[in-house]
This record gives sequence, C-alpha cells and structure tokens, in this order.
Amino acid sequence: MKTGTSNFFNDQTVVLTTKLLRWTICSLVPIALVLIYFYHLPILPLSSPESDFTHSNITDHSSPSSSYAEKNFFYQNQCDYSKGDWIKDTSSPLYNDTTCGMMKEGRNCIKHGRPDSDYLYWRWKPSECYLPRFEPHTFLQLISNKHIAFVGDSMARNQLESLLCMLATVSVPNLVYQNGDDNKFSKWYFSSYNVSVSLYWSPFLVQGIEKSSTRPNNELYLDLVDEKWAKDMDQMDMIVLSVGHWFLLPAVYHEGDSILGCHYCPGLNYTDMEFYDALRKALRTTLHSIIDRRENDKSKGFDVFLTTFTPHHFEGDWDKAGACPKTKPYRNGEKEVEGMNGEIRKVEIEEVVAAKVKGSENGRFRFEILDVTELALLRPDGHPGPYMNPFPFFDGAHEHVQNDCVHWCLPGPIDTWNDIFLEMIKKWWEETRSED
Ligand SMILES: *[C@@H]1O[C@H](CO)[C@@H](O)[C@H](O)[C@H]1NC(C)=O
Ligand SMILES: *[C@@H]1O[C@H](CO)[C@@H](O)[C@H](O)[C@H]1NC(C)=O
Ligand SMILES: *[C@@H]1O[C@H](CO)[C@@H](O)[C@H](O)[C@H]1NC(C)=O
Ligand SMILES: *[C@@H]1O[C@H](CO)[C@@H](O)[C@H](O)[C@H]1NC(C)=O
Repeated sequence: MKTGTSNFFNDQTVVLTTKLLRWTICSLVPIALVLIYFYHLPILPLSSPESDFTHSNITDHSSPSSSYAEKNFFYQNQCDYSKGDWIKDTSSPLYNDTTCGMMKEGRNCIKHGRPDSDYLYWRWKPSECYLPRFEPHTFLQLISNKHIAFVGDSMARNQLESLLCMLATVSVPNLVYQNGDDNKFSKWYFSSYNVSVSLYWSPFLVQGIEKSSTRPNNELYLDLVDEKWAKDMDQMDMIVLSVGHWFLLPAVYHEGDSILGCHYCPGLNYTDMEFYDALRKALRTTLHSIIDRRENDKSKGFDVFLTTFTPHHFEGDWDKAGACPKTKPYRNGEKEVEGMNGEIRKVEIEEVVAAKVKGSENGRFRFEILDVTELALLRPDGHPGPYMNPFPFFDGAHEHVQNDCVHWCLPGPIDTWNDIFLEMIKKWWEETRSED
C-alpha cells in the first residue's frame, strides 16, 4: 500500500473513515428528515420585470467597464437552490489547468489523465428557478474592497480553489501570503478590485489537535474557538465555513476543564459521545464568538456563509480500482439526503439559524447557508478517484490504487457551489440597495 498521499485523509484514516461510516450509518436509527427550509430571508419583493424571469436564456452582460448597478441584471428572489436536477450542458467550464495555476495537485483530474470528460458538462437546474453561470466580474465588483476568508478543512480549500480559478479568468490575483504545512494558510489579492481571499486551515473551527500516526484520536476543545483564524476576524468582511469530515474520526471532547466524552475510542474509559453533539457545540462556539467579537464594530457588517456537508461516494474499498466508478450524475429522486449526511446537514442548518436570531439583536450580521448537500450527493462522477495521482494506470491496470471519492475535480461540480454563492451575494446586494 502506498503512503504519503497529499490528500488530507492519510491511508489509515480513509480505511478508518470508511469503516466508521458504515458503522455510523448502520447504527443510526433511520431518521425521516423533515427538510424544512426555515432559513429563508425576509421577503423583499422585487418589482423589476427581470425577477419574473424563469427560463434559462440569460446572457452574461458583465464587462470590465459596466458598473454592476447599470447591468441588465437578473436576480430571482426566494429561490431554493438546494433542490433540483443536474441537466446536460454544452458549455465548457470557465477554466482548466492551463488557465489556473492555483489548484491543489490532487484535484487536477484532467492533467492527471482522467479519460472521460462528460462530468464537466452538467449544469444544476434548481426546481424553481434558473441558476446563472458564474460571472467573475460581477463577483469581484460585488465584493470589492472586501476580504473573504475560507475557513475549515480541505473541502473549504476545494471550494476556494474553484472560486480562484473562475475569478482568475478575468483578474489574476497575487499570492501575498503562504504558510503552514501544505500551504494551509494562504492569501491572495486582486489589486484591481481591492479584494482579498484567504484560506485558513481549521478542520474543527474550535481548537483541536489532529489525529496523526502517533495520536490515535483527535482532541477537541469545544468551548474555545480556534485562534488560528479567529485572531484575524477583525480584518475579515465575509467568512465561508466548511467542515464535517474530520468530525467522523475518533475524538476526545473537552469542555472547560473536563472531558465530556469520546467518539469511537475503544480502550479509553470515557463516556461515549455522538460526534453530532460535538459538531453542534463546535459550530455554536464558532458562531457565538463571531457575534461576540464583531457586534461592537458598527462601522461595517459581517457576512457568514456555511457550506453544508458534502457526502463521499466510496462504493468499495478506497484502495481498489473502481472505488467511485460512476461517470454520470444521479437523477433527482434517485438518491435522498438521509442518515448521517442528513443529520450533519441538519445540525449545521439549525446552528446557523440560531446564530441568525442571536446576531439580529446586535450588530450588522448576515448569515446564510450554502446548502449543497443534495447537489453533491447527486454527483458520484465528480471526484478524482484514482486521478488524485498522475496517470495511475500508466503501467497497466492495478488491483491496488489510491482513490479520492471525497474531494472534487477542478473544474467540476464544486464550481456550482460558487455559482450559488454568487447568487446569494447578489441577493444581499439587492436587499441593501432596496433599503437605501
Ligand atoms: C435567447 O434570446 C435570444 C435573444 O433574445 C434569441 O435570439 C435566442 O433564440 C434565445 N435562445 C433560446 C435558446 O431561447
Ligand atoms: C484550456 O482553456 C483555454 C482557454 O479557454 C483553451 O484555449 C485550451 O484549449 C484549454 N485546454 C484544454 C486542455 O482544454
Ligand atoms: C481595501 O480593502 C480592505 C479590506 O480588505 C479595506 O479595509 C480597505 O478600506 C479597502 N481600501 C479602499 C481604498 O477601499
Ligand atoms: C471507568 O470509569 C468508571 C467511572 O469513572 C470506573 O468506575 C471504572 O472502574 C473505570 N473502568 C476502567 C476499566 O478503568
């Protein structure tokens, strides 16, 4: 078995995760999830005729010179982007590996010889509306003079790299900071828009020590926010949180001076504790510390996005050929968000909704959920699989090959997360404008 993958899951971890997932899923009482979309923002009727537009014939009116406000711009209010279907699309992705130098090697499926390309030609069609293609200029204009931070695990990085690659098609950023093992802390600057985009590695959001070859479990300090990102909070305007997978691993949970319990650590005499409870506490600590630290700064608002959990698509052993062999999306209804995926998503949504209530009392906060769990579930074809490594079959077929069925190829389905991200920023922009 090869070792030393650049993937955040080391070999052992993947095996363990896969086992754990089975264990967790089997031990869960199936939960009939009532998917309540209780995070709708206040209804702000848009009177413009564009808001009635429901079909997909939109052209990109953006140009470097046109100001956003002048554009024949379309935004459909009150759309639930989380439900829909992947439909065939003929347009090519905005970028590829020759146009974008910012993607982590393990996501570079085309360069690594992935032979099929159908996975690049699908577009997300929400049931109730149309999701426009990403417009890099519009995005940069709307966030000009701002600093966006992506905070979380390697899924946060995956989304950030997709965003940078799309933005770089109109404006190439300068890398202004890079630090940490595998550049887990980085910052880019788009000088023509005064936009900073940064990455903070923080797989629990709260303080923690990661599991390693010498440490059999994670140690989490659920009541202490991780200062590696939180110390810079006063320099940020918008934050995108994305965590989940690291919570599945064995962990000891601390709160104050006591040990609350432990998730999946046989041999240690601690109370067994579900990782959902730990995730909930970690999110609560995170969101509360954002509110506590930012509520006195009335000079500027603070925007918080949380990208919901995205399921893996391992169908067999992670180190066997064909671990995630699908080359087409599932259709709407073919797979449901349920079990562990549904439960994690539910915890995330509930905590953001609670923070929204708390944050509305003080300060200028906006909270939003980037609910991509179902979009992601329907894309078993979007992972690097064996193409996490360059040309894995150059010397013929193997029985053993490393597979990544968790992260997403770039370009790939994860670009859609950012399409939705932009629509939400547009919505906020519209709301601010209508308040003026
Ligand atoms: C889109 O709109 C343009 C101009 O309004 C029209 O010429 C074109 O046929 C439309 N395309 C589709 C697919 O409806
Ligand atoms: C990458 O994109 C550029 C610009 O769109 C294009 O000219 C080039 O052919 C693409 N390369 C590949 C391998 O698709
Ligand atoms: C540039 O962006 C930063 C936020 O990243 C902001 O604090 C600063 O005021 C902006 N500069 C100008 C000239 O607007
Ligand atoms: C585990 O902890 C309980 C309560 O603290 C104690 O009674 C018990 O003896 C411990 N068991 C082992 C095997 O140490």
